Amino acid sequence: PDTLTFLGLESSCDDTGAAVVRHTDGEIPQVLSNVVEGQTALHASFGGVVPEIAARAHAERMDDCVERALDQAGVTLADIDGIAVTAGPGLIGGVLSGVMCAKGISAGSGKPLIGVNHLAGHALSPGLSEELHFPMLMLLVSGGHCQFLIVRGVEEFHRLGGTIDDAPGEAFDKIARLTGLPQPGGPAVEQAALEGDAKRFPLPRPLLDRPGCDMSFSGLKTAVLRARDTVITNENTLARQDVNDLAAGFQKSVCEVLKEKTRRAVAVYLEETPDVPTLAVAGGVAANKAIRIALETVCAESDLRFTAPAMQYCTDNAAMIAWAGLLRYRLGAKDDLTLSARPRWPL
Ligand code: KG4
Ligand code: ZN
Repeated sequence: PDTLTFLGLESSCDDTGAAVVRHTDGEIPQVLSNVVEGQTALHASFGGVVPEIAARAHAERMDDCVERALDQAGVTLADIDGIAVTAGPGLIGGVLSGVMCAKGISAGSGKPLIGVNHLAGHALSPGLSEELHFPMLMLLVSGGHCQFLIVRGVEEFHRLGGTIDDAPGEAFDKIARLTGLPQPGGPAVEQAALEGDAKRFPLPRPLLDRPGCDMSFSGLKTAVLRARDTVITNENTLARQDVNDLAAGFQKSVCEVLKEKTRRAVAVYLEETPDVPTLAVAGGVAANKAIRIALETVCAESDLRFTAPAMQYCTDNAAMIAWAGLLRYRLGAKDDLTLSARPRWPL
């Protein structure tokens, strides 16, 4: 049929999501609902996401999220043409919770089940707000991911490079912890950086001396820790200005690295002579204004269009999963009750 309505489920990290997306062929899809239950508070005292706690929370909350998503969309399961679920990569307990729930709904309703790669969900998420033009260059930067992809089609991705250790979001969160700023660290560090002097602490620009698009943020984190230790008091406190300067220096370094690596990715991408040269950015770190400006600068240099999905589709959400599943279904993809949850699943 021309119009399809999909239910999507997401549970690969610390957000439980359920969403309903409706799409008429050739048009921009409609997100009828997009329910996200975050778990930041559950993990706050542990200094990171605890997989076991996350899995339990997903299992407890998913049914309710699905009900709310259907309610808010004004549909029932009878109106749904298929169920899309993140089948990996991610924390295996959480992915399993989502996959089991989706299998239950599929078995009970007789509706088709489609497993979706979480990264493909992010990669196709710009299509929730505008027409997708393939090939498109995508920078995925979040708490868990950092990679450049050439998105050639709904099921065709080419990875140009990525982080060899931490993701930038993870580094932002760690810097926040090191400097006494609240979680999630990204927005807090960005705010502090506004008042800081980025030049005060000399920090490295990891891997810029190496060719290619690979990145590293773990050494930068350690360098910030060392810089902090030169100014921390005996009472283990930092002056406000020290925090701001550390944040500014760190953010500046991330921007410089992303800028230069994006230039290299753009050069490779342009060899494919895209019809509508586009750089899309997705993931929670795409909220960072300094990083956006850095990427926009690169786009202006090479006449690329810069685009980013609306923030609610940038961070982990089920609308992008419903959308990616719907697109795969249009191409004939279909899974069954043997669908497995995969902790690792490169595109
Ligand atoms: O995509 P996301 O919601 O979850 C995954 O990691 O998959 O991204 C969350 C990450 C966190 O690490 C958070 O600190 C970071 O995105 N983040 C930011 C900003 N807002 C969120 N990082 C830098 N600047 C921001 N404004
Ligand atoms: Zn994600």
